[in-house]
Amino acid sequence: MLTAGEARAAQPGERAAAAPGAPAATAARAAQVAQTAPSGKAAAPRHDPALIARGRYLVQTAGCNDCHTPGYAEAGGQVPEKAWLTGDRLGWRGPWGTTYPTNLRLRLAEMSRDEWLRFARAMQPRPPMPWFNVRAMSDQDLTAIWAWVKAMGPAGEPAPQALPPGQAPVGPVVMFPQ
Ligand code: HEC
Repeated sequence: MLTAGEARAAQPGERAAAAPGAPAATAARAAQVAQTAPSGKAAAPRHDPALIARGRYLVQTAGCNDCHTPGYAEAGGQVPEKAWLTGDRLGWRGPWGTTYPTNLRLRLAEMSRDEWLRFARAMQPRPPMPWFNVRAMSDQDLTAIWAWVKAMGPAGEPAPQALPPGQAPVGPVVMFPQ
């Protein structure tokens, strides 16, 4: 994968070729991402304004905020963007125990784009996380979500630890049939 410095040094149109030894799929993806940069400039995915805007749009429309942003549904979506995806203390209790929507602003902070793509495809968290929806996203859409999270930076506290079935949670929960 290109570092930000390499991507900036590359001329428009040369970017996909600028990664010697990169698998063809990676190069094709880089070319695709480069096309979304304004006026053909080869911005690194992480700093590409069009990609970041796409990520914001996906976070908003693919439902991630509904669970991963505190109070989002109750407020009719009127939560400042700086609080988006900071995780929630509202638990989800069912036969799997009690889970808490992860603080994704912290979780993704240390991940490179490639690490995130691998993680998003392999993860299988407990309900009600719709991991199968995330897995079905294109590499470009996953990259866009990652770019938006990186652009916003880390924020908030980690969500509470999940509890095993049978252990009573202390805070508020949404109950599923047990
Ligand atoms: C219905 C609620 C809900 C929705 C909608 C939802 N999530 Fe989650 N998500 C959760 C919960 C709860 C967990 C924690 C599950 C666990 O602890 O096993 C989680 C976990 C995750 C994790 C795993 C973190 C880790 O470290 O294992 C990722 C990544 C994630 N969500 C991303 C997303 C994205 C991206 C979207 C939007 C496309 C989304 N989620 C939508 C509830 C939700």
